[in-house]
Amino acid sequence: MEQILFQHNKPGRCVTFAEYQTEGGFTALKKALAAMTPDEVQQVVIDSGLRGRGGAGFPTGKKWSFVPRNLPGPRWLICNCDEMEPGTYKDRILLEANPYSLIEGITLACYAIGVRHAFIFIRRGYEQAAANLQRAISEAAAAGLLGENILGSGFDCAIDVHVSAGRYICGEETALMNALEGKRANPRAKPPFPAIKGLWGGPTVVNNVESLANIPYIIANGPAWFKATAATPEAAGMKLFCISGHVTHPACFELPLGMKLGDIIGGPCGGMRPGSSFKACLPGGASTPYFTADHWNIPMDFDPVAKAGSRLGTGGIVVFDHKTCMVAATLNLVRFYARESCGWCTPCREGLPFVVNLLETIESGQGSDEHIEILREHIKYLNYAFCALAPGAMGPVDGLLRHFEDEIREHNRNGKCPCRS
Ligand SMILES: Cc1cc2nc3c(=O)[nH]c(=O)nc-3n(C[C@H](O)[C@H](O)[C@H](O)COP(=O)(O)O)c2cc1C
Ligand code: SF4
Repeated sequence: MEQILFQHNKPGRCVTFAEYQTEGGFTALKKALAAMTPDEVQQVVIDSGLRGRGGAGFPTGKKWSFVPRNLPGPRWLICNCDEMEPGTYKDRILLEANPYSLIEGITLACYAIGVRHAFIFIRRGYEQAAANLQRAISEAAAAGLLGENILGSGFDCAIDVHVSAGRYICGEETALMNALEGKRANPRAKPPFPAIKGLWGGPTVVNNVESLANIPYIIANGPAWFKATAATPEAAGMKLFCISGHVTHPACFELPLGMKLGDIIGGPCGGMRPGSSFKACLPGGASTPYFTADHWNIPMDFDPVAKAGSRLGTGGIVVFDHKTCMVAATLNLVRFYARESCGWCTPCREGLPFVVNLLETIESGQGSDEHIEILREHIKYLNYAFCALAPGAMGPVDGLLRHFEDEIREHNRNGKCPCRS
């Protein structure tokens, strides 16, 4: 199977700058600076159909096009490598193996948007990835591929690595900008959207690591090639799926977007662990409603997953076997979100601990069936929160109610968790 982002991977170590260049690295940047206008680079990315890999799947080229061309003053690009969602570790795996595609992708994006200064906002614990990025930035600058007057083109671009203060909310793009400005990391009201008024009030684009790392390959090989690497005609490109849980080989795989869920679990993951059978999974990270065996044939692409009642999210698939208590699993997830609430708005600050409390009551067998309706109502209430953290937190609760209501009722009937006996 063709690999895009993983094509330079070396067993057990990071690819070197020399190897990356020998294997075709930085040819896209050279090509763009020599023969393409910024608008042409942007158009190729639009035509490729690349959708953001940070969770929401917004078309990357379209996002770039929202930045006004002629506003005076600086504009910014931020690469989001906060990656604190449980079950998601793809950006770390990519950067530990190869930081150069991201550096090249950021430089190309800056060229397309007219940015001269980019930031990589990286999770505090990602020390190896941050060290790789610092080294790659120095190497690229020494080779004239970053800094002033890149390759004699007149285009200047600097990249700085900023280590996050270390909270999940710092990954939300406007909270991230506050954090970068040294303020409390709570989200900002939208509009104005970052493309108009973002970092230090300037037009700003925030893109995920995986989205930006794909750019060099799209520029080098063209939009039709990129689209064709997907598993279905509707999808575009490959995707880093990071799988964890009760499968035989939990790992991060680069697979065609649109590959069926069952083919991912039964194929590269080696199926379920011996003695286990599939019960459910989070298809796209901790904030997505569960899929069950009924979803085995869903193409893992943004629209089909949404149509089937969940989200592709980050592509972090967490698999649960037949012995998993879905109430306990959901409680565990919502506890994380309640702890990570930034406390800015009431529905989330007060609502998530209340939901945790309800789930604890149910899980311990002390709940009653009327709690089911109260949980359902809270899915609605938490949609009124200020940012997407709270509705995301209720994703697994929504899946629990839609697919495992019987399991809740069994807890209530039993007076204790039936899964423990
Ligand atoms: C609570 C929360 C946490 C988030 N964490 C991340 C993250 O760690 N990395 C990321 O790329 N996007 C994260 N996002 C999404 C970003 O706000 C933003 O949409 C994304 O970085 C855009 O990149 P893309 O268009 O390339 O997908 C998060 C969103 C929310 C609401
Ligand atoms: S929804 Fe939660 S994380 Fe988002 S602003 Fe409100 S309190 Fe903060």
